[in-house]
Amino acid sequence: MNERDSETLAGFMEELGFTYEEDKLEAQVVVLNTCSVRENADQHFFGVLGQLKHSHEENPGKFVAVCGCMMQQQHIIDAVKKKYPWVNLVFGTHNIQEFPKLFKNAVEEHKRIVDVWEGSDTIAEGLPAKRLYNFKAYVSIMQGCNNFCSYCIVPYTRGRERSRKPEEIIKEITCLAKNGCKEVMLLGQNVNSYNGGISFAQLLREVDKIEGIERIRFMSSHPKDLSDELIDCFKDCKHLCHCFHLPVQSGSNAVLEKMNRRYTREKYFERVEALKAVCPDIAITTDIIVGFPGETEEDFEDTLDLVRRVRYDSAFTFIYSIRKGTPAAEWDNQVPEEVKHERFNRLIDVIHDIQEEQMKEYQDKVLPVLIEGTSKTNANMLTGRTETLKTVDLPGDISLVGKIVPVKIVKAQTFSLYGEIVDA
Ligand code: 5AD
Ligand code: SF4
Repeated sequence: MNERDSETLAGFMEELGFTYEEDKLEAQVVVLNTCSVRENADQHFFGVLGQLKHSHEENPGKFVAVCGCMMQQQHIIDAVKKKYPWVNLVFGTHNIQEFPKLFKNAVEEHKRIVDVWEGSDTIAEGLPAKRLYNFKAYVSIMQGCNNFCSYCIVPYTRGRERSRKPEEIIKEITCLAKNGCKEVMLLGQNVNSYNGGISFAQLLREVDKIEGIERIRFMSSHPKDLSDELIDCFKDCKHLCHCFHLPVQSGSNAVLEKMNRRYTREKYFERVEALKAVCPDIAITTDIIVGFPGETEEDFEDTLDLVRRVRYDSAFTFIYSIRKGTPAAEWDNQVPEEVKHERFNRLIDVIHDIQEEQMKEYQDKVLPVLIEGTSKTNANMLTGRTETLKTVDLPGDISLVGKIVPVKIVKAQTFSLYGEIVDA
């Protein structure tokens, strides 16, 4: 979601006549869009501000704006004002559309502006975007979250759920497709509760009809709201990728309850089975938090057991991070750091073992791969993605970037796949 917002900010900068500069120390204007989901994101932000201090002193004409989720928290705004008084502009997630106006005012009036809105009922439409790729795009369909999981800062930084109108979403995707976009990732904190007058499943069916769009993805889904109507889309939406990100967070019912997730492990298994029944080759991925307050060894073993039973294609694993302002931050049964790390490492080992086996199944398969560019590890190779988001490196001509080609997997390793293009 933040990356999508950054594309909007870059679009504004382009409209204002600026060009992109990779090096933040060299850039005349720096806009830092922040994430606050875990503490290391907060720390990273303050580290970057520390780096910028010097170049701001040396070049007083330099302009630094900070925005995003961190700025929606008063204690962060106070810290920025006190420790980094040279920051020129502070704004938040709810007034991103105001950025050009705020920027101009701060420059023209030579003064620091702090303007953070507490919330908003709408989503601004028609904003520019400088997108990273033209063959794949993020499309935000809703913002905010009403779930208030007890560990999570997002409902406080992004506000309540609001959905974009289906017409606006369809218009945006149709326009992207006309410009060569083949793949869209529909974004929302909880896409299952999309309500733009039609349901999320109905929206998917509409997007599926857009000419030129060959791959549709979405994230994230909340297991408690995963409807049969959505699962049925995997039966008949031709362009829906056979992968599903379904964050479980924990495999223990006691922990799930304290997390305020509002489902049980049994209900989660039932939803996974329902998905697999409709789409047997579906690749399921997840998010897991270890070391949530009060998590016992038995609770953690329930998580390991769930992971082994679901056999995730891959999983994003996080050590619980105290987020000021959330209920769980106040609890006194926090898990010691060393226990969190020990559990984290055990979880990773289990996930990797499963992943190794899953990856072997790709060996010798022929799969459609969307070519994205040159390989990060070998400039003579291309890199692309399977429908299940696996990276494949392969020899081929750069002119194939943006095309979907059939590829035979010739080597499958735990973290990487190598392939060769075959005749369609
Ligand atoms: N600590 C650790 N992980 C968190 N997440 C959200 N809040 C926290 C937190 N306080 C994880 C969840 C979520 C993902 C985006 O980030 O797993 O699904
Ligand atoms: Fe955070 Fe829970 Fe909302 Fe996801 S569903 S954004 S974890 S509060």
